[in-house]
Amino acid sequence: MTEQNDFRTVSLDKSGTKLRIIDQNMLPNSVVWLELDEIEQVWQAIRTLAVRGAPAIGVAAAIGLAVSAANIRAKDFAEFYQQFCRMKAYLATARPTAVNLSWALERLKQVVLQNKQYDPLTIKGALLVEAEAIADEDVACCRAIGEAGLPLLAGVRSVLTHCNAGRLAAVQYGTALAPLYLAKEQGQDIRVFVDETRPLLQGARLTAWELNQAGIGVTLLCDNMAAAVMAQGWVDAVIVGADRIAANGDTANKIGTSGLAILADSFGIPLYVAAPGSTIDLACASGSDIVVENRDPSEVTELWFRQPMAPAGIDVFNPAFDVTPAKRISAIITDRGVIKPPFAKNLAAVFGK
Ligand code: MRU
Repeated sequence: MTEQNDFRTVSLDKSGTKLRIIDQNMLPNSVVWLELDEIEQVWQAIRTLAVRGAPAIGVAAAIGLAVSAANIRAKDFAEFYQQFCRMKAYLATARPTAVNLSWALERLKQVVLQNKQYDPLTIKGALLVEAEAIADEDVACCRAIGEAGLPLLAGVRSVLTHCNAGRLAAVQYGTALAPLYLAKEQGQDIRVFVDETRPLLQGARLTAWELNQAGIGVTLLCDNMAAAVMAQGWVDAVIVGADRIAANGDTANKIGTSGLAILADSFGIPLYVAAPGSTIDLACASGSDIVVENRDPSEVTELWFRQPMAPAGIDVFNPAFDVTPAKRISAIITDRGVIKPPFAKNLAAVFGK
């Protein structure tokens, strides 16, 4: 990763009082930074996808809750805790599928409880420290995912990815794109076929932008082109991120991933899922327990530029995610190494208590 691309996409601002995020809704046309310190602003940023991608959502929620909690006025612990829990519960409703959101919020709650003997001011300081630790860990995890995934790319000339699981979706490096950044650092040129990813075009707007910035060759595809590209023999591997991985390996990721997995399977192409431990939800037995977010129909009918592109009032199905069955996943690349099937046994061995 070049110095130019070395910035964090989600962080605590220099004053230590605001959540600083790149506004992903403005990309690729403008690079706009948002600084937020109210819980409603943070909720809105997550809900509207100004900050999106499972790890980035978790880190933004942690920093957003910590800076919002810093403004709580409370005379004692009980009063502070009550207001903190109200903020935490509210933020948890922003989006349901990425487990990183509740995971990060729960970590902050534990910090509050562990410090209950101290005054609210001390607890506020401890929350900011924990939120920054979550951000630092995310950077380290993504780097580790890149290192674990790199050997899988030996001899690979081109991969296909869906949605955005890059540095915009995390603090730095990303998950699915991390091995590609590391390959680039080591002089390996891998072309990336990027699905545009309807309806919100995370592939076209975000993945194509960030890979381009990093000097990695991109070919942008409409979502219905993957089979044709695979049939040419141009795709050596499919690599995607995850929003929640169940204990049996079933994986929720951007809508369209499960279709790609069927295609990859049928063409004999490996499909890798890359994710940090914070995305693995061992409390969730299988994909059928994962709540898939349904989003506003206007995302489908009005596209990005808000021009009508379907008859007014037409019935719309707009799930943001789908679940890829574990049997179609070749391996899960994590910060603790590459997990191979059988996932139920191997995920528990690495990530179980
Ligand atoms: O709706 P989004 O843009 O938040 O969906 C994001 C994805 O599906 C990503 O692939 C996933 O969160 C992994 S990000 C490293």
